[in-house]
Amino acid sequence: MRSSDVLVVGGGIIGLVTAWRAARRGLRAAVVDPEPGGGAARVAAGMLAAVTELHYGEETLLGLNLASAARYPAFVAELEEAAGHGVGYRACGTLAVALDADDRAHLRELHALQTRCGLTSAWLSGRECRRLEPMLAPGVRGGLRVDGDHQVDPRRLAAALVVACERSGVVLHRARAERLVVVRDRATGVLLEGGGELTADQVVLAAGSLSGRLAGVPEEVLPPVRPVKGQVLRLRVPPAYAPFLSRTVRAVVRGSHVYLVPRADGELVVGATSEELGWDTTVTAGGVYELLRDAHELVPGLTELPLTETLAGLRPGSPDNAPMLGPSALPGLHLATGHYRNGVLLTPVTGDVMAEVLTTGVLPDEARPFSPLRFSSAPPVRQEQPV
Ligand code: GLY
Repeated sequence: MRSSDVLVVGGGIIGLVTAWRAARRGLRAAVVDPEPGGGAARVAAGMLAAVTELHYGEETLLGLNLASAARYPAFVAELEEAAGHGVGYRACGTLAVALDADDRAHLRELHALQTRCGLTSAWLSGRECRRLEPMLAPGVRGGLRVDGDHQVDPRRLAAALVVACERSGVVLHRARAERLVVVRDRATGVLLEGGGELTADQVVLAAGSLSGRLAGVPEEVLPPVRPVKGQVLRLRVPPAYAPFLSRTVRAVVRGSHVYLVPRADGELVVGATSEELGWDTTVTAGGVYELLRDAHELVPGLTELPLTETLAGLRPGSPDNAPMLGPSALPGLHLATGHYRNGVLLTPVTGDVMAEVLTTGVLPDEARPFSPLRFSSAPPVRQEQPV
């Protein structure tokens, strides 16, 4: 099929969930990506950290994050049934701890902000933290227990979305989109690298950190997405050491965020650096050193574990750290990108929002603050008729 109702450019988790949900709503959907199921999800730890990653000034984004977190159990059940395999969703909660007086003050501020936002988190003494997680360093000064911040395995999530898409009739074009085709001021498809064209009634640009680089997109419509590098380590907890940690443990160590995400299958993910270095995805000695140094301060026994993988990925950063969802200023072109630190968390709500706008032409209320038009210098899109 070279023509579809919806063509999604980008086969990461955001592109795949958009296509899957659109297909479930009866649209003929296609995805173009050289490697569907790849992208930043291959690197991500998979924390669903709406509460522990709350930042000042991001209360609007918090609403979307919480809405997506609340949908996760039902979303996972539906996806696992569609794909026939698990995605490693684990309702384990998170413990954010402080190692010194500065970290403790920072965490107290976060606790106050969470309380003002009506969120549930509990302040614990160092001793209470260690009772929950005995592998924590003796010097832990206190922490925040957040029972609602869970985790999922992004690689299994991506693999399940590929299968769910295929089983729902989504056509996966394993090719690179080279250029958006615009005919009479309307997006009509893409040209492929090496030749060929795919056409569609509606095109969705969901190419993660690459979303700002598709040729043919008018400059005033190009999403202002930039790559923010994150280096991540994977370790393995041998059965004799289990349970090493029972929940996600995180801290700010000398200003850097470090988190440890323990999977049920024994994988322990340690992340992540945050580096503004353009398209560089080199794993550096310095990045690995800093992650291991900070993680070791938090959980000294970690240095005994086998180190199985080091990897760097690119978060799709946006100017206000929030995603761009829905119609762009160019008729026929939608965006689903700029999810920055929350792509895995926002996968369920993104799928629902995009399927709704693609089938009805109306952006749901919960997504209105995230319209791409907030960054566009082009005149607003004409109101599309519901299809
Ligand atoms: N949300 C975790 C990260 O972006 O590193």
